[in-house]
Amino acid sequence: MGIVDELQALQSEALNAVGAANDLEALEAVRIEYLGKKGSLTRVLRGLGSLSAEERPAVGKVSNEVRGALEAGLEARRVMLADAALASRLVAEEIDVTLPGVHRYPGKRHVINQVVDEIVQVFLGLGYEIAEGPEVELDYYNFTALNHPPEHPARAATDTFYVRDLSGESAAVEGESDVLLRTHTSPVQVHVMEREQPPIYVLAPGKVYRRDVADPSHLPQFTQIEGLVVDEGITFGDLKGTLEHFVRELFGPDRRVRLRPHFFPFTEPSAEVDISCGMCDGKGCRSCGGEGWLEVLGSGMVDPNVFGYVGIDPERYSGFAFGMGAERIAALKYGVPDLRLFVDGDMRFLRQF
Ligand code: PHE
Repeated sequence: MGIVDELQALQSEALNAVGAANDLEALEAVRIEYLGKKGSLTRVLRGLGSLSAEERPAVGKVSNEVRGALEAGLEARRVMLADAALASRLVAEEIDVTLPGVHRYPGKRHVINQVVDEIVQVFLGLGYEIAEGPEVELDYYNFTALNHPPEHPARAATDTFYVRDLSGESAAVEGESDVLLRTHTSPVQVHVMEREQPPIYVLAPGKVYRRDVADPSHLPQFTQIEGLVVDEGITFGDLKGTLEHFVRELFGPDRRVRLRPHFFPFTEPSAEVDISCGMCDGKGCRSCGGEGWLEVLGSGMVDPNVFGYVGIDPERYSGFAFGMGAERIAALKYGVPDLRLFVDGDMRFLRQF
């Protein structure tokens, strides 16, 4: 075998050995085996000296090529094995530094505010405007101008939160101050009618306070939504039609509305409004206590005496008003059995809405 053939055989043998080396140590052994001082290639190259001057350039060229190919092969394999070694070290030495972590839920509107918004939207759609009034109210607005006689039971300190009256003015009722936390949103009716002449179409959502112990159907602080319409020719039919529209928008088109005669000092006639039970469609079931109907709001035609307090002409104008509890509406809408859930602040409950 000529020396050139020998070199080429050595090259392919060496490159096979490079390809077979599975780690850096084995690769280094291959390098030493072929390129080391006592390596096979080195040995062949040493033999060049004994070649004739004609042979030497050609063989020298081939041997340089073989050396170059071998070095390039070794380097490529080295890089590959080093990368692989690093990668497997990274996997082997991986340390999990993550902690279980706290999942933070994005904030959202409270379900009661969502329901208030929804109700507001229905009435904005009918052209109503939003009105507001103070939560700390005068007896005059909460009771007197709403036609409550002085001895009305709602005025009792057992039912209403009175605030110490720092003005020193005399209270409407002996022993009670004339500053209180409003017990309903109806005083907003009085404020609106004092400032504006008809036509009046307003909706007034807000917090109200009563001296009730919290239980499944009572909260000492809750949310009411008051409606007031005063215009020429307003009838009880307008009230009924408005409330039917509202109920269907909020609870769905299949719900029926029933008005029951009732009494409120500031409306005459007055009616309590029931909606057909969504569970049994009016047949009577456990969730409506066998009644088939659920009470949703109080309403009536504005009493002419109230117009008298605010200076609106009852001969020219008539009106209706209604008031509903947002927590109660939300409980009916979502089948919540206990109003206290809305104020407990338990996020597992509130996140559902
Ligand atoms: N203010 C009444 C209540 O709190 C509800 C109501 C409002 C009734 C308007 C008639 C008209 O019970």
